[in-house]
Amino acid sequence: MTERSNSLSEWLEARLPVISAFRREYVDFAMPRNLNYLWNFGAFATIALGLLILSGIFLALNYTPTVTEAFASIEMIDRQVSSGWLVRAIHMGGVSMLFASLYVHIGRGLYYGSYKAPRELLWLTGLGLLLLVMTTAFAGYILPWGQMSYWGATVVINALNSLPVIGKPLAAWLLGGEGLGNTALHRIYVLHFVTAFSIVGFVVLHVAALHVAGSNNPTGIEPAKPDDTVPFHPYYTTKDGLGLCLFLMVYAGLIFFAPDILTLADNYAQANPLVTPRDITPEWYFAPFYAILRAVPSKLGGLLLAAGSLGVLFAVPWLDASPVRSARYRPILRIALPILFLAFIALGAAGMHPPTGFWLWISRIAVTYWYLYFLILLPYLPRVEIPKPLPSSLQEPRG
Ligand code: HEM
Repeated sequence: MTERSNSLSEWLEARLPVISAFRREYVDFAMPRNLNYLWNFGAFATIALGLLILSGIFLALNYTPTVTEAFASIEMIDRQVSSGWLVRAIHMGGVSMLFASLYVHIGRGLYYGSYKAPRELLWLTGLGLLLLVMTTAFAGYILPWGQMSYWGATVVINALNSLPVIGKPLAAWLLGGEGLGNTALHRIYVLHFVTAFSIVGFVVLHVAALHVAGSNNPTGIEPAKPDDTVPFHPYYTTKDGLGLCLFLMVYAGLIFFAPDILTLADNYAQANPLVTPRDITPEWYFAPFYAILRAVPSKLGGLLLAAGSLGVLFAVPWLDASPVRSARYRPILRIALPILFLAFIALGAAGMHPPTGFWLWISRIAVTYWYLYFLILLPYLPRVEIPKPLPSSLQEPRG
């Protein structure tokens, strides 16, 4: 039997060397020995994505993309289809788990300078993924055709319409006519599918780029000696495995104990173009950008600010002028960056409240800091900041 399987693997190896490629990239791959648990979040995102695609396929079997039937078909999945409620909870909870993983994943990258040379393309493919995930989530949220689906989409279409010259024709072209109707819903359904599967392709590209440069690590210095690294298996398969158990426990907790905690009650009422909800509130993962959209009185200004807040991330590898990667050795950045994280959380809270008084000012202060951090601090801070001495190896105890 072993002889036969050996000869089969040799036969395959000579024609399509997938087994040796897998071994090289996922078993023996050299990993820095000092990675902390923040390096688990890429794996979390991958698992959440896998579960989203799988549950999405089962939802699609029972969903009808028409204005008259979409809402009822979702209700049917929840109430009549066998285990439909579970599949839907996995799908809805998965979106939150994916975004939460991604925001930590990006924060980790910013803190340890994982975007710096030679990992710029890795960073850019990651941002491509973020845009695709956002587009997929936005399109997916419209599909149940609830009040928030309809009015949330309306806010975004109005923002698009505010673009001079191209805005209106672009919106009409995307939606296949004026406003949200059957044609638009059908297109949004197709968009949801296409972007979801493109994400999988992009993840392959992302991980391929990672395997060219290798993983960064908390010190930000490259492994120099052979014993600075350990093979991916068994060291990080077990570490990722433990992390995944905890991740799946939180995910299961969300699905089984609080499936509705992150969704809005308004979306359990069917879309009604004649009744605008009192407050149009986005899902939590879009709230920071929604707050930026509303931080200024001009619609176009808000749209440009919100798009720009993501746009600056693309320039980060070139904006950061410091030769030191990890914030661990950058005393001022080490304070400035957590403030950026707080600003992001504050924007999220502001996005869930009406844009008046206190919350309006919170969003204005936070968005100002966002731009200040990327456009002023990253390029100019290295002129005044004195970095701490870097360790000579990954194994040196933390000073
Ligand atoms: C669906 C979305 C994504 C998936 C599935 C994903 C997956 C992964 C995986 C599995 C890793 C290796 C493990 C780890 O370092 O955590 C990784 C590394 C990395 N990802 Fe992502 N990623 C995604 C989105 C992003 C985004 C949005 C960014 C940043 C804008 C990003 C930037 C990076 C960087 C810089 C690394 C290397 C980190 C290091 O070695 O320090 N990724 N990603």
